[in-house]
Amino acid sequence: MALIDKHKIIETNASILFALSFLVVTIGGIVEIAPLFYLENTIEDVEGVRPYSPLELEGRNIYIREGCYVCHSQMIRPMRDEVERYGHYSLAAESQYDHPFQWGSKRTGPDLARVGGRYSDDWQVDHLTDPQSVVPESVMPKYGFLLNRMVDGKYIQDVMKTNRMVGVPYTNEMIENAFSDFNVQVDPDGDYEEMLERYPGAQVRNFDGQPGISEMDALVAYLQMLGTLVDFSTFTPVASR
Ligand code: HEC
Repeated sequence: MALIDKHKIIETNASILFALSFLVVTIGGIVEIAPLFYLENTIEDVEGVRPYSPLELEGRNIYIREGCYVCHSQMIRPMRDEVERYGHYSLAAESQYDHPFQWGSKRTGPDLARVGGRYSDDWQVDHLTDPQSVVPESVMPKYGFLLNRMVDGKYIQDVMKTNRMVGVPYTNEMIENAFSDFNVQVDPDGDYEEMLERYPGAQVRNFDGQPGISEMDALVAYLQMLGTLVDFSTFTPVASR
């Protein structure tokens, strides 16, 4: 049988065509994807990137629970308009410890990858409580109820352990001290030196200006650290080294 006839058998039999196409696509897929699991340099380590502090992690969970990602991405693309608006393009390492990551291309609101430090805590609280009071044309929902919902950090150790299971390098020391680190981050009069050694660059403030630790404190602590860990005045990408 000539080769052309054999080919005809494949082309005229849907099951064989499907089975063989599937095989080819599978091989192609494995060849592309498998090496990424073994390459050490898939993510370049970058100085300054660290796991989230317990309070920031709590804030991140609230961010996810409230679906902020439905309207906000955390991924600045390396294109001029984005870099001019939002700052240095996002590095893979900056979302290295995000489970799940918060990238995305759907932007009803602005990208938040570098929103940390762009506004004061007061602005963040006012904006979250009533976005239209600060930006009249905003379509962002109101999240004032976060001020009345207190958090006690009871579960944060478990959340950290779960993160560790998927590869976030939380040490035993970090997990043992999770509860006190959680509390001390909103207490500028407290003993926060050790917490800062564990989480360099963490910001210690009473974020919502009220007594107690509210979900607002945790969320604002998280927003205020976004994109602040890497010092871009000293950072050189691998390609230009
Ligand atoms: C329905 C879509 C929507 C949702 C959900 C939403 N936002 Fe927004 N957000 C916007 C829009 C639109 C803006 C721009 C107008 C403004 O500043 O209010 C914005 C602006 C912001 C800004 C200011 C960013 C900047 O650079 O000026 C922050 C911070 C923010 N949102 C945080 C959050 C957080 C945190 C949540 C979840 C608790 C959230 N947003 C949920 C639509 C949304």
